[in-house]
Amino acid sequence: MKQGNYRTIFNRRIADQYFQMRLEGDCSAFSRGGQFVDIAIDGFFLRRPLAVREWDSCSFDVIYKTVGKGTEALSLITPGTVLNVLTGLGNGFDPYSCKDAALLISGGLGVSPLFSLAKELVRTGKKVSLIAGFNKASEIILENEYRELGVNLHIVTMDGSAGTRGLVTDAIAALKPEFDYFYTCGPKLMMKAVCTSLTVPGEASLEERMGCGCGICYGCTCHTVKGPARVCADGPVFKKEDIIW
Ligand SMILES: Cc1cc2nc3c(=O)[nH]c(=O)nc-3n(C[C@H](O)[C@H](O)[C@H](O)COP(=O)(O)OP(=O)(O)OC[C@H]3O[C@@H](n4cnc5c(N)ncnc54)[C@H](O)[C@@H]3O)c2cc1C
Ligand code: FES
Repeated sequence: MKQGNYRTIFNRRIADQYFQMRLEGDCSAFSRGGQFVDIAIDGFFLRRPLAVREWDSCSFDVIYKTVGKGTEALSLITPGTVLNVLTGLGNGFDPYSCKDAALLISGGLGVSPLFSLAKELVRTGKKVSLIAGFNKASEIILENEYRELGVNLHIVTMDGSAGTRGLVTDAIAALKPEFDYFYTCGPKLMMKAVCTSLTVPGEASLEERMGCGCGICYGCTCHTVKGPARVCADGPVFKKEDIIW
């Protein structure tokens, strides 16, 4: 983990309530897709944790939804503004657990932290499919980016306004994709349904309200078969078999 100041390159609306923000600064603490950052926002005591979509040697970006005062304040940040950020938090997804073919399953914003994982899997010659669930067509994000990577993308929406109508688990049952490992990120109920219905091994990225974001306060503790675990430091990604839903 590193703490540093990061300059805002852009911060723009990309769909309904969704914003993408790119920040410039030291990215040496990032090692895996699925890690997150904790951003200090003026006027707020606690930092706000956001998953990293992608990074390079000198900048990274996050995609966030405005759900409350913190993310609303974040959406007003203008280019050039400097933010204090903890980077390289959490363990991220393990790309080496997949042998040949990976299935990625996302719900809503869960499609963002899976992006760097998909890039790494494609780079190492794995076949990558993504079943991405959204509520409606106007909430779809990153479709072109995944297609440009060469990921076999299938979109499902709850209201049928794009892709096939229904749940990601309906799409898995209908498409019967071939894969030896899965990675999932999204609403807890969706991930529970995915993890308990698939017999193939995999991992899921959990989310809890966070205090410190870096392993000190134990405010994000969840229960696993190995005992209590801190989502921020021991996760947020956990092996399917370790999670107690
Ligand atoms: C590891 C991690 C990664 C995350 N990645 C992303 C991301 O990539 N993009 C994104 O938009 N959000 C992400 N979140 C959630 C994000 O941190 C919260 O939405 C944000 O902190 C809300 O701040 P706020 O001040 O706007 O809302 P608040 O005023 O704090 O809360 C508004 C509403 O959102 C709910 N809420 C707030 N935080 C959470 C949370 N952590 N889990 C569930 N419900 C919450 C509250 O219960 C309340 O109903 C992530 C959270 C964690 C722990
Ligand atoms: S948020 Fe403090 S230990 Fe996880």
